[in-house]
Parts: sequence; C-alpha cells; structure tokens
Amino acid sequence: MGEPEFRSRSSMETGVVSTRMVSATLIENLYPSPSARRYRCCTADGSWRNHSIRNVGDRSSLSIPMRSSDEPGQTQKVAPAEGFDYYRPAVYWNSYPSVVEMLNERATGDVATWWGSHLRDAFGPFRHALILNCGNGWVERALIEQKIVESAVGVDISDELLAIARIKAETDGLPLRYHQLDVNTAEFPVEEFDLVVNHAALHHVAYIDRVSRRICELLPPHGVFVSWDYIGPHRNQYPGGMWEDAWRVNENLPPEARQVMAYPHLPTIMATDPTEAIHSELVSCSIERYFRIEHRRDLGGGIAYLLLTHNHHLHDLPNDVSEPIVRTVMNADFDLLAGDPASTLFTYIVARPKHETLTATEQLSHWTESEDERERLAAASGGIYYPRTAVASLSEQVAALGGGTLDERTASVLARVPGTMLVRTLIVRLKARFYPPRSLRRAARGLGLPGQARNRSLSPDLS
Ligand SMILES: C[S@@+](CC[C@H](N)C(=O)[O-])C[C@H]1O[C@@H](n2cnc3c(N)ncnc32)[C@H](O)[C@@H]1O
Repeated sequence: MGEPEFRSRSSMETGVVSTRMVSATLIENLYPSPSARRYRCCTADGSWRNHSIRNVGDRSSLSIPMRSSDEPGQTQKVAPAEGFDYYRPAVYWNSYPSVVEMLNERATGDVATWWGSHLRDAFGPFRHALILNCGNGWVERALIEQKIVESAVGVDISDELLAIARIKAETDGLPLRYHQLDVNTAEFPVEEFDLVVNHAALHHVAYIDRVSRRICELLPPHGVFVSWDYIGPHRNQYPGGMWEDAWRVNENLPPEARQVMAYPHLPTIMATDPTEAIHSELVSCSIERYFRIEHRRDLGGGIAYLLLTHNHHLHDLPNDVSEPIVRTVMNADFDLLAGDPASTLFTYIVARPKHETLTATEQLSHWTESEDERERLAAASGGIYYPRTAVASLSEQVAALGGGTLDERTASVLARVPGTMLVRTLIVRLKARFYPPRSLRRAARGLGLPGQARNRSLSPDLS
C-alpha cells in the first residue's frame, strides 16, 4: 500500500443540500485563520507538499501545521505518561472467541491457526528474535513455548513492564533477555537475529523510517520481519465517513448491545499516551520501503473494532445472546473490508529485508531529513501533526463546555457557528452519535428543525 487513500465525499450533492457549502462554513469556523488551514504533507516517498484544508474530511498520510521551530534537530522524546497501564482490564474486539477465529481465518486462512503457528510453518522456525516494544513479554513467551523461535531479546521503554517480563521469563526458565530503551533511537542490541517481531509496536513509533531502516540493517537477507499491527487513522481520529458507517451498524443492534459511541478524545490521548497510533498510517508504507512483502492479509476492524472494543453492554450479556450480535458486527465488518480494503485498521505482514534500499544514499538522506523536520516541527506544535477531524473538533467543543444541560452546551457551540439550518442539522446529528436517540428528537425540537433530523437528504456528508 502506498500513500493512504484520500477519500472525500464532500462534493456529493445530497438532495437540496450541497455538502460543499457545509464544508466551507465549517472550515471557516473550525480553522478560523488562513494560516490554521495550511499544512504540509509528507508523502510515502518522503517528498513534501503544501496543502490547505478545503473539506471537513481533508486528511493526508502525514501532515504538520506550518509553523517554524527553534528546536535543535535532535531526537524528540515522545513517550507514554508515567504509570500509563497498557494492560488494564478492558474489553477488546478480540475478547470474543469468534472474533479471534475470524481474525485467524483472515490472517492465515484457518480459524484455528494463529499468526505465530502460520509464521513457523510457512517461514520458520527461527533461532533468535528481536521483539520490538515487548511490553509484559507475553508475545515472546508464546513464540518460545510454541517452538516458533529458540531465544529472544525484548526491548521496551517501560521499566515496570520489563520487570514483569523478566520475572516471568525467569520463573518459566525461558531463554529471554530484556533491554530498556527508547525505540525511537533505534539503538537496538546488535546480535544475530533472524526474526524481528512487531506486535502492536510500530504504531507507537515516532521515528518510523529510522526504526524500519535499522531493522532492515539488522536482519540478514533470509531474515524475516513479522508485523501484526494497527495501521488505521492516526491516534484513532477516524474520519467522519468511517465513524458514520459504524454508527449506522450500531443503531441497528438491539439497544442493550449498542456501543456508547464516544469519539476518541485527542487531548486525553495526548495527556496519557501521545505515542498511541502516532504514525499508524505510515506503518504500511514504511515497511514497504525496507521490506519485500511475502504475505499480507488485511484484518479489517473499520466497524467491528469501533463497536466491540470497550462495549461493556454487549460483553455483559450472556454468551448465547452476545454471540450472534458479534457475528452480525463481524459480517458488517467483512462487507466493509471486501468493498474497501483500504479501510482496514489492522494488518498481518510477513516480509524479508530489501537491502538494496540501504544503498540508495540520496533517498535515505531525504527520508531522514523529512522525518527529522516532521518531528521537530510537531514537537514545537505540542505533538500535533494533523488538522483535527471535524467530528473531533465539534465533539471536543461540546465536551469542553462543561456545566449546563446538553442543550445549553449545544446552543453555546451553535452561537459560535453561523446559524444556518445546515449547521444546526449537523450538530444534531453529532449529538445523536454521542448521546442516546431520545436526545436526538429533543434536540431537533429544541433547535426548531423541521422533519426527521436523521433524514439523509438533510444531512451534510462528513467524510
Ligand atoms: C500496545 S503496547 C504493545 C506491547 C506488546 N508488544 C504487546 O503486544 O502486548 C505498546 C508498547 O510500546 C511501548 N512503548 C511506547 N513508547 C515506546 C518507546 N518510545 N520506546 C519503547 N517502547 C515504547 C509501551 O511501553 C508498550 O509496552
């Protein structure tokens, strides 16, 4: 996959409403000055392009606000907040056995075969592995226990997680060693690895070109790089179209099983774990720069990950009730993936190093300079790389208003937006996504909107 596909439905005419008109109004309000609308974009080949936001859904593979910075050109530190817990008890989409089976099937072709066994049977077994961002070490323990690799070295920034990994390795008598390091420095131990494992790691890496290049250098020609990772929108800032697709499937679920659709709150992510999906959209193209892909399967998630992860309502239902609902969601997810493979949030890749890339010195310097500039400018902009999605901007405004009733808060947001019927409709639709359906009708009445607010002919498109 090259540069992630840019999708915009904003030029669509929906009944009497031109979504371009809505876009123009919203852009002026969300990004008030012309300079706030300008951003630079680094494409997959490392070149830079200047852009100006024209549609509410505008986004690119990688973009940064055009601001100058006095920061010196050194590695910018991006790390999770101290004590951030990656393994807190939570419901994920793969908490359901049927989801695991379906993911196995998508990845390996067999419901009962997980990626590790597939890796061993098709490409291994292996002698010595480097495990990126190993966390509590469960991945390398499983790889050793299932005879996929003989020994491994794990690296991670977290002393606490490494301590857990070390204790478990010692207790189980496993040939595992650990190093504490910031992966962004790419200063990995130099050993004879024939396997490098990226399990949910690269989407936490800021200097993704540097790290991918170093892994390529470390591996011999027959070595293998395996990746099971999130490659969806950065910091989970889903574009409006994807959010809306999931929202529609959610609405058709039984009320007791519905997800509470809260848009991922960027300020919270920045305060707790700014590494979360920092450059997830670049994972795929960074791998392609330095590795020849021998096996790739997109795993989907565009609907199921959004509706099943953190959905406690569904998870609390008895298995015989939740199971058919999970399958309905997974079927909708499959349909989305089949119709639009670029919508995938996760992918499984097995690849071998492309050492010839390492000889293209001019290209390599260009990629390094682009990456250093991107990180330096982002550090000077509070770690923000991209313009906010429109859904994020509006949901943050509603959330930030604090006191008062929801209607008062919404009215206050409206006061900052020119009061056209179109914008009011948009706000009501956004409310409907964050709050229960009853509030939609109340909000529509309160704002004096005619007819059914969810009627698509009145609804601006928010791609
Ligand atoms: C989603 S967890 C994945 C852990 C493990 N690979 C797994 O699959 O369970 C992300 C990991 O990245 C680590 N991490 C985040 N930023 C890092 C950095 N700059 N250098 C090294 N590790 C980092 C975290 O400590 C955490 O263990």
